[in-house]
Amino acid sequence: MSVTPVLEMKNITKEFPGVKALDNVSLQIFAGEVMALLGENGAGKSTLMKILSGVYTKDSGEIYYKNIPLNVKDPKDAQNKGIAIIHQELNLVPELTVGENIYLGREPVNIYGRIKYREMYDQSAKYLEMLGEGRMSPSAKVSSLSVGQAQIVEIAKALSMDARVIIMDEPTDSLTDVETENLYQVIRELKQQGKALVYISHKLSEVFDICDRATVLRDGTFVDMKPVGELTEESIIQLMVGRPLYERYPKSKGECGEKVFEVSGLTNHKITDVSFSVRRGEVLGIAGLMGSGRSEVAKSIFGAMALTKGTVTIDGEEIKISHPSSAIAKGISYVSEDRKQLGLILDMSVKENITLPALKTFQKFFRFISVDEEIKTSEHYIEKMSIKTTGPMQKVVNLSGGNQQKVAIGKGLVTSPKVVILDEPTRGVDVGAKKEIYDLINELKENGLAIILISSEMPEVMGMSDRIIVMSAGCVAGEVSRADATQEKIMTLAMKNLTKSAV
Ligand SMILES: Nc1ncnc2c1ncn2[C@@H]1O[C@H](COP(=O)(O)OP(=O)(O)OP(=O)(O)O)[C@@H](O)[C@H]1O
Ligand SMILES: [Mg+2]
Repeated sequence: MSVTPVLEMKNITKEFPGVKALDNVSLQIFAGEVMALLGENGAGKSTLMKILSGVYTKDSGEIYYKNIPLNVKDPKDAQNKGIAIIHQELNLVPELTVGENIYLGREPVNIYGRIKYREMYDQSAKYLEMLGEGRMSPSAKVSSLSVGQAQIVEIAKALSMDARVIIMDEPTDSLTDVETENLYQVIRELKQQGKALVYISHKLSEVFDICDRATVLRDGTFVDMKPVGELTEESIIQLMVGRPLYERYPKSKGECGEKVFEVSGLTNHKITDVSFSVRRGEVLGIAGLMGSGRSEVAKSIFGAMALTKGTVTIDGEEIKISHPSSAIAKGISYVSEDRKQLGLILDMSVKENITLPALKTFQKFFRFISVDEEIKTSEHYIEKMSIKTTGPMQKVVNLSGGNQQKVAIGKGLVTSPKVVILDEPTRGVDVGAKKEIYDLINELKENGLAIILISSEMPEVMGMSDRIIVMSAGCVAGEVSRADATQEKIMTLAMKNLTKSAV
């Protein structure tokens, strides 16, 4: 373990209109180590790393590489100086192939300046293989990939740069457990090679799995830097939030009412014969591994994916849903797991994003919503979920990742649905804000909504659901009550059809 940092950021300050994102922040990064960079949503983690990787310029402060002042002009310059970053928001060009994305702007060319595709694809395949994705074709279009696969391509791209400093901003956000384990393996190898890594994550267990030290930011200021061995989840939360968090999964007093929502025999190319019902004031959890069909069930109900068979019933009446707008009109709302592609329009304001779905429903009745009312509505959600923004008119693209997620939830609730499907609602959300979202779920429950909660975080499904169904290979593998739910029971069900088909 070396004592002089490979890279040091000193007294960095950065202001955006109306926000001081970073105030005198310092960070040290060491060779052969992983430095966790922690803090609540909007604490300034991504901004600090965007400065290091040349995306933003700092207002003041210094950067040193092995004690020599380092000036990073732009992303290309950062790359040339051995700094690679895997951004929190995916940065790939969907129309290009996997290999073209990995080598974008650095394509190997022959003496005539023609791209050497064979070489580019062979090299790409090597990095994909390292990440356990040997089956992904380097010549496939990125637009055909799932979010998790696109994330892997981003990681492969950073690896291919052979950088000295590698920054990972919530890299496992949409990875499966197996993919995460593969990434850990790669990180361990990079450490062995003496690389210095920065790892940003809201999954605190990852800090203990893979990181050596942790730097904590709060509200754009430096709080502390400590070896991970001296930290516990509780002490990290205390440093991040400034106070201990007593109750991670608040209990609701709400009682479940009568059955309001039912699906029966839902079938298409991804799911088979999925049936379940949800009562008023009930939270039905859907657990399962990534790729088990959970989101496909949600999309099929919401009219974003076609069904070949099956019925959807609300309040005893069978309904036909051909498009998300008809789902919304019938009282069903869906907060997508992928806030970037399906959820938000990044270039629009917080207000426009939150009120957009409601406008659509109201337009049908020639109703008119005043701008005042729109602002009031968006302010309600901003306050309710403590969305960190300069106000309703701020563009969503300028919010931190976790705060974008909260806007997506507001958007899902504004249509006053009877049934709401929350797909990974706390992805990228910090521990304190998670609790705010859970409080909100409980409030919705007490107001009699039927809630479907899809989550990869086992403690979250177990802590918040009244009942849990577990999916495996596109089918419902079983159901457990809140009282009976254990991690083992859920995992066994989640693996059920997989082991059967493997035999
Ligand atoms: N381009 C920008 N324009 C205006 N404000 C910005 C911009 N980028 C970031 N901010 C603001 O700076 C603050 C810090 O944001 P940052 O993205 O660094 O947070 P973060 O710690 O990465 O949070 P998260 O965990 O939610 O990703 C936030 O208030 C954010 O809204
Ligand atoms: Mg961020």
